[in-house]
Amino acid sequence: MTDQTDQRELLARAQKIFPGGILGTFRFPEGLEFVAGHGRGARVWDLAGRQYIDHVLGSGPLILGHAHPAVVEAVRRQMDRGSSFYTLTAPAIALAERILSASPCGEQLRFAASGAEATFYALRLARAFTGRRKILKFEGAYHGHHDDVLISSSTPSPGFPLGVEDSHGISPARREEVLVAPFNDQTVVRNLVEAHHRELAAIIVEPYQRVIAPHPRFLPLLRELATRYGVILVFDEVVTGFRVAWGGAAARYGVTPDLAAYGKIIGGGLPLSAVVGRAEIMELCDSRRKGQATYVYQSGTLNGHPVAAAAGLATLEVLAEPGAYERLSATGEAVRGHLGKAVATRGLAGQVLGIGPMWHVLFTEEPITDHRAALRADRARLLRFQAALLEQGVLVNPGVRSYLSLVHTAEDLEMTYSAIDHALDVVARAATPK
Ligand SMILES: Cc1ncc(COP(=O)(O)O)c(C=O)c1O
Repeated sequence: MTDQTDQRELLARAQKIFPGGILGTFRFPEGLEFVAGHGRGARVWDLAGRQYIDHVLGSGPLILGHAHPAVVEAVRRQMDRGSSFYTLTAPAIALAERILSASPCGEQLRFAASGAEATFYALRLARAFTGRRKILKFEGAYHGHHDDVLISSSTPSPGFPLGVEDSHGISPARREEVLVAPFNDQTVVRNLVEAHHRELAAIIVEPYQRVIAPHPRFLPLLRELATRYGVILVFDEVVTGFRVAWGGAAARYGVTPDLAAYGKIIGGGLPLSAVVGRAEIMELCDSRRKGQATYVYQSGTLNGHPVAAAAGLATLEVLAEPGAYERLSATGEAVRGHLGKAVATRGLAGQVLGIGPMWHVLFTEEPITDHRAALRADRARLLRFQAALLEQGVLVNPGVRSYLSLVHTAEDLEMTYSAIDHALDVVARAATPK
């Protein structure tokens, strides 16, 4: 344990050595920055000893909270046996079997180390299998940092199907291979697929896109178009996999893709991801095919890492216990329910969003059915709300949705509710004309 002075000193050192002083894009409002010290259950302590109720959960992997005894024990046991072998291990095989038995499209699987790699390999497989080069993605969807998909993830497109890179350094040639459509717009998607199917390898979709639910006809339409035109349908289940149901969004919505990308929960908080799917597609990365026209290279030093696999397996064992998903859903519904009432009581315009153990609010009258509607919501108000939560020790990731775990207690939720009430009072006061 250190104190406020040590934490300040560490933050100053981070400023010097990391661009922007942080590890990625996750930045706390000024004055609320901290260095994480340790976590247990749904609580996190910073190095100055301040305690938070965690609604970030490592950006989603920690569905069992921090330092869950089953995960710690599994990791310790595997570490004792050795941490990396670059070959088959029992935890990797057992975890793959667990994932395949849960995943509606799961016949075969390959591991990678991050969600981005899983979506990257899914698209490479789709291109190799179809012999086509384009992909279709949806505006506002995030599939990781790689060049194929970091297009129109946060920035709106100038018009469909044109995309906009979300980062410099992406070759402009990439944009020509990526078609962009608005999520939930059945007409635009149908027209695009019909016009481009001869060169279209894959449709990649977050079945529940960030905070936006699919229209009941939307995912079935994607399935229908993909089947009709021989396009590979890829579900990005990095967030939804093992979270919105044991079988992920595919099971929840009853639509089976050809390939699915998993990450976050399946590594139990350690780096691990997977691409799963139909055997005839997955088999393209059998290295005995090297030299053949459709061979797909898929390998990585840490892929299927046994310690991460052990952590993932321990996590899935707990999730497989009876009642786990009912509990996750009930917790999500309780928080969304409280939030909805608290927003309405204050006469604020707000849309409460989320599915399973996820929650969010966007300050707007408008129902959120696509990325542009989300962008039209009052972002300044959202950031003010979230800063007020952080000030009260509720840990949220500014600008984005929040996660709940199986270990958030009644007390954690009560404290979250009172923080929400106070944060909404702050927002309402700021909204009241003087
Ligand atoms: C839906 C989705 N796909 C892919 C990714 C990328 O995963 P990773 O950050 O592990 O590369 C993320 C990350 O948040 C995600 O939300």
